[in-house]
Amino acid sequence: MTAQLIDGNALARQIRAEVAGRTEGLKARGVQPQLSIILVGEDPASQVYTRHKVNDSTETGLSATLETYPASLSEEDLLARVRALNADPKVHGILVQLPLPKHMDSQKVIETISPTKDVDGFHVASAGALMVGRPGFWPCTPYGCMKMLESIGYELRGKHAVVIGRSNIVGKPMAMMLLGKNATVTMCHSATRDLKALTLQADVVVAAVGKRNVLTADMVKPGAVVIDVGMNRNDEGKLCGDVDFEGVKQVAGWITPVPGGVGPMTRAMLLVNTLEAAERASP
Ligand code: GUN
Repeated sequence: MTAQLIDGNALARQIRAEVAGRTEGLKARGVQPQLSIILVGEDPASQVYTRHKVNDSTETGLSATLETYPASLSEEDLLARVRALNADPKVHGILVQLPLPKHMDSQKVIETISPTKDVDGFHVASAGALMVGRPGFWPCTPYGCMKMLESIGYELRGKHAVVIGRSNIVGKPMAMMLLGKNATVTMCHSATRDLKALTLQADVVVAAVGKRNVLTADMVKPGAVVIDVGMNRNDEGKLCGDVDFEGVKQVAGWITPVPGGVGPMTRAMLLVNTLEAAERASP
C-alpha cells in the first residue's frame, strides 16, 4: 500500500484564493487589511521568511509592511514601536519575527502585542482562548495541520492522535486543536518512554520535533494519517521533515510531504488570521 499525499501547495493555493475573495469584500467596504511585520537583526533565514510573508500578503490583496531594525535596537524601543502599531487602527495584524536578539525577552515582546492583532497566535491570551475554546487566533502551523485533516474529510472524533513535540507554537496548540475535535490525544516528547508503543496505536501522528527520522515505518499503524511538521536538511543538504517519508508512505494511509506539505499551509494561515483580524475590527 502507498499512502495518499496531502498536497500542502494545492490546499494553500485554494486558501489564498478564498482569502483574496474575502479581502475584495472588505475592500469594497473601504477596509484594507494590513499586516505589520517587524524584523530585528540580520538573521538570513528570518530575512527570507519575512520577505515571503510580505509577498504572500500582497499577492492576496492584503497590504503588508516590513520594518527592519538593527540587532542593537533596545527592547524598550521595540516595545514602543509595538505599542504604536497596537494604537494604529489601520493596522490589523502585528508580527514580530522570532528569534529576537538575546538581550530581548521574546515573551514580553509578544505579550505587548494586542491580542486582537496577534496573528501569530503566540500571545498567552491566544493560547488561553484556544485552551478554553473561545475566539482568538490559532498559531499558523497547527492551524494549517487542522486544515489539512479537514481537506481529506478526516473525522477526528474518538480517534487517537499522537503529537510528538511539545513546543508552545506547534505541539501544545496542536494537541488542544485535536482535543477540540474530540480526538483522544497523547503528547510525546524527549522524556517519553517507548514512543513506538504509542505511535503504533495512533490513527493520526503529528511529528513536530525538528529532528530527522523521528518517525519510521515500523512505528506507524497501517492506514494512519501522518503529518510532518519538521523542516530539516539531510546529509546531502536536501530539505526533509521529521518523518522517514519513503518508508512511512508504504504503511500510512495519508502523508504530508516535505517540502510542499505543512510549510505552505503555515504561510497561508497567516493570511487567514490577518484577514480575520481585519474582519473582526470592521464588523
Ligand atoms: N520564526 C520562525 N517562524 C516564525 C513564525 O511563525 N512567527 C514568528 N513571529 N517568528 C517566526
